Amino acid sequence: MFNKIWRSKEQSNFSIEYTKEDILRQPVPEHVAIIMDGNGRWAKKRSLPRAAGHYEGMQVVRKITRFASELGIKVLTLYAFSTENWKRPKSEVEYLMKLPEQFLTTFLPELIAENVNVRVIGNSNQLPEYTRRAVEKAIQETKHNTGLILNFALNYGSRAEITYAVKEIAKRVQQGDLTAEQIDEEVVASCLMTKDLKDPDLLIRTSGEIRLSNFMLWQLAYTEFWFTDVLWPDFTEQHLLQAIAEFQRRGRRFGGV
Ligand code: FPP
Repeated sequence: MFNKIWRSKEQSNFSIEYTKEDILRQPVPEHVAIIMDGNGRWAKKRSLPRAAGHYEGMQVVRKITRFASELGIKVLTLYAFSTENWKRPKSEVEYLMKLPEQFLTTFLPELIAENVNVRVIGNSNQLPEYTRRAVEKAIQETKHNTGLILNFALNYGSRAEITYAVKEIAKRVQQGDLTAEQIDEEVVASCLMTKDLKDPDLLIRTSGEIRLSNFMLWQLAYTEFWFTDVLWPDFTEQHLLQAIAEFQRRGRRFGGV
């Protein structure tokens, strides 16, 4: 069943190597969210500029998107740029802002062919025009696709998202469309940028950092977390299988018994 013992280059513990078929014997998580971290350290280890790490990270986005689609994952949310990432040096921010255009220029035809539906959460208004245009084109050209939802969190911050939702609800109450008593979890969720998506089942964070960094704080309430020391540019299909295998071993009770 499991063919060989496998050891990640970055991890000292030995794990079983899984095949796609092993994993497909049990339900796969419908929504996988990933905090793609470690691009800078990957580049530093090779004495390369940080941009080289982001470029390599983008290649891994392609690989993992293809594989997620093959596995039948329904939604893949990728944290590509946070509201806090503007604090980085200008040249790095500019490079990161060019990545969606670069990614979509070369990869959009394949995304269309593979029936992938591109979406974005985050505040698009603050993005440079060329970034917004590339993303908007991808959203428009894939909007009728019914396969994997590839959801980029771009200029996304969970606290900003929740603050916006609170304002929306306050406005509705002020206008008399809603009473304070009617505000429940469903109302709050319906004002978030993820309103059409189910909450993530599995969260992956790479690079050994064990924190959420303002990512989907509301939506991750019952999500299973999987952390790895592997840097994002080194992340492979096998790592995703490892994460899903661990997810499949866990019993989710959602607060029940
Ligand atoms: C965190 O690593 C990574 C980012 C802030 C950017 C993530 C972006 C990509 C992986 C490419 C996105 C691709 C598309 C198509 C939008 P870091 O730079 O914080 O790494 P470090 O912690 O090692 O410095």
